Amino acid sequence: MNNNRIIFILSFLFVVSNIYTQNTKESYKSEYNDYKSFHPGKKWLDNNGVHINAHGGGFIFHEETYYWFGEHKIEGEKGNRAQVGVHCYSSKDLYNWKDEGIALKVSENPQSPIAKNCIIERPKVVYNKKTNKFVMWFHLENKISYTASLCGVATSDKITGPYTFIKAGRVNPGCYPINFKDLHKLPVPKSVYDLDLTGGYLQIVDGGNKIHPDDLNIIGRDLQEGQMSRDQTVFVDDDGKAYRIYASETNSTLHIAELSEDYTEHTGKYVRALINRYMEAPAIFKKDGLYYLMASGCTGWAPNAARSAVAPSIWGPWQELGNPCIGDNADISFNSQSTYILPVNGKKDSYIYIGDRWEPSNPINGTYIWLPIEFNDGKFQIKWYDQWSLEYFNK
Ligand code: GAL
Repeated sequence: MNNNRIIFILSFLFVVSNIYTQNTKESYKSEYNDYKSFHPGKKWLDNNGVHINAHGGGFIFHEETYYWFGEHKIEGEKGNRAQVGVHCYSSKDLYNWKDEGIALKVSENPQSPIAKNCIIERPKVVYNKKTNKFVMWFHLENKISYTASLCGVATSDKITGPYTFIKAGRVNPGCYPINFKDLHKLPVPKSVYDLDLTGGYLQIVDGGNKIHPDDLNIIGRDLQEGQMSRDQTVFVDDDGKAYRIYASETNSTLHIAELSEDYTEHTGKYVRALINRYMEAPAIFKKDGLYYLMASGCTGWAPNAARSAVAPSIWGPWQELGNPCIGDNADISFNSQSTYILPVNGKKDSYIYIGDRWEPSNPINGTYIWLPIEFNDGKFQIKWYDQWSLEYFNK
């Protein structure tokens, strides 16, 4: 081959490889957004340029990838009902999210517990090493209001789904909590069965006096049917045991319940925590052997002052630490409600607060509040930043 020919072939290969690199860069760019920081409360576009639609979200880090599962909302007030299902996204860096589609689809069969137009809220996915399955738990309401207070479970062999619905129901029928009171074993007055369960609060007034919900035998009332289960999250401990934390007893008290080895059932062991504190939106994490909980008060879609608590064991005792939010708008948790606290992979002591800024009149427009968590004086704290990045944790 003469020199000219060699030069020609090399130039040709150079041009072709440049075009190829250029193209891959272009497709990378158009396939993913190029966020380099978090912008709490702003529209957050996925790889298709569409605002992420995964509200009340749950997160899992699996094989070097983060997955975000959340409620798929649609336009208009009815958009808070499940018209589509649970949406899944994936990300390598937490800033840029790829649409992985609908992980759990609502059913077109009106008889199904997850029939279209039901309420599916706060889905959380965990991975079970023993069965090699992904297990999704969620709050389910199949009636017009929130009175059913059910939890649902679905599983999949593949993290992004499709998830197969297994069952839904109340929790631990026939079982008393570890910390039951004598009262719970006494006959239940008819008035307790007549309580209005629709609201977030118990509005019990007896002759003008407010009754303390803990003096009512709600545990006894719900014993046969199973305990109520509304806002919820799932937590897998270092030893592989999993627990579900949910608002029970008409939202007045959180329950923390152990899950079976395969994570798809409750074992019957559970504790009443933060009794009569009316906490919703539970999010939990573990640091240095201590369990931290974040939750909200009960004001529906309207934001309120967050709560926090710490315990040496998942079973308690839980000690309240007050509102972890600090600064302007802390009293409304920066206009958000907790949904998850995410440990950042590979960065020690790095946790992200994840909350929803709900838009009840047009739920699809709801945005997400992600903020770094700081530790101070045995408590965790959350401050507002218009913009921040994971560099924050290198401090
Ligand atoms: C909130 C709850 C949400 C949703 C809403 C309905 O308190 O955290 O998940 O259930 O009430 O009003």
